[in-house]
Amino acid sequence: MKNFDSHISSKNQDWEKVAKSQLSEQGVVVIRDLISFSDLEKINEKVDNILKQPSLLGNIGYYQKDPYKKLYDGFLIHEKIIDIFLNEKIIRIIENYLKDEILINEIFLKNDLGSNTKYFPYHRHTGADLIKIPNHPFGCGMALYLHDTESGAFCYSIESHKTKSTEETREIFSIYEHPESKNLIKKLSRINGKQGDIILFDEKGFHGPEQPTKTPRKIILSGFQLKKYTNNKTRTEIPVLISNLSGLSDKQKDVIGINSGSRGTFESYHLRNLNNNLVIDHFSKLISKKYNYIDKKTNFINRIKNKFENIF
Ligand SMILES: [Fe+2]
Repeated sequence: MKNFDSHISSKNQDWEKVAKSQLSEQGVVVIRDLISFSDLEKINEKVDNILKQPSLLGNIGYYQKDPYKKLYDGFLIHEKIIDIFLNEKIIRIIENYLKDEILINEIFLKNDLGSNTKYFPYHRHTGADLIKIPNHPFGCGMALYLHDTESGAFCYSIESHKTKSTEETREIFSIYEHPESKNLIKKLSRINGKQGDIILFDEKGFHGPEQPTKTPRKIILSGFQLKKYTNNKTRTEIPVLISNLSGLSDKQKDVIGINSGSRGTFESYHLRNLNNNLVIDHFSKLISKKYNYIDKKTNFINRIKNKFENIF
């Protein structure tokens, strides 16, 4: 696999222009120096705390559907996540690239555990769920590296966003099923980055995490799509803490979806959709057993106490 080591520093003049043109040309761009070290520290402190324990009985903790990764709602981590993902400069770059107004579609924390298996293919988003004009870019993904990331990094098939969509290829999701797969795989590049790097990519291009790897990875993933192709609806209902929304500009409020609808429900979102999960079934039984035991023990102690109180 090739390595992609280039980045654009937000300290440079004209960086927004350069970022937009790299996004157009390569389909992917890495933006550095936009986030302060202290904000990253605050976010990572929260993330570490979330990843300590699973969310059980309503405690703050990660969600986990399978043995490979832990997940959590992006905006519930820290208010700084809103500032970063709704940064007006980032919004401007994406809107300049897509040439129209955008709306967030989802946001989540993903901690791949480094289980040395291939569980997520290199894929692209076909936009099958959107109203769209064929071959026009319709959305951009955005990722935030929470630590320096090399092995297991986000990978992108450079220029694959330019691959023409035809009647035959329109709905192909996996890179391995595409008629041009050999060439597309050859162009797959590992996007090496530093803590705090922001990756923007055209979601029409093939991408995914490098697998298999034994190296764990923590990343926050999100995306934005053209309002006109989504009917101004986010992919899912996105949870936020209301007080974290204070101080947002009208543009930010619009992009975060305050004036939008949603195509999917809160409970059907992939983080939460754990129907028939055997681990949940197992722990549900254990929890009820434990609470029954606590209930019986408390009743027993109270009965003894009452008896003694009556004697003395
Ligand atoms: Fe994806």
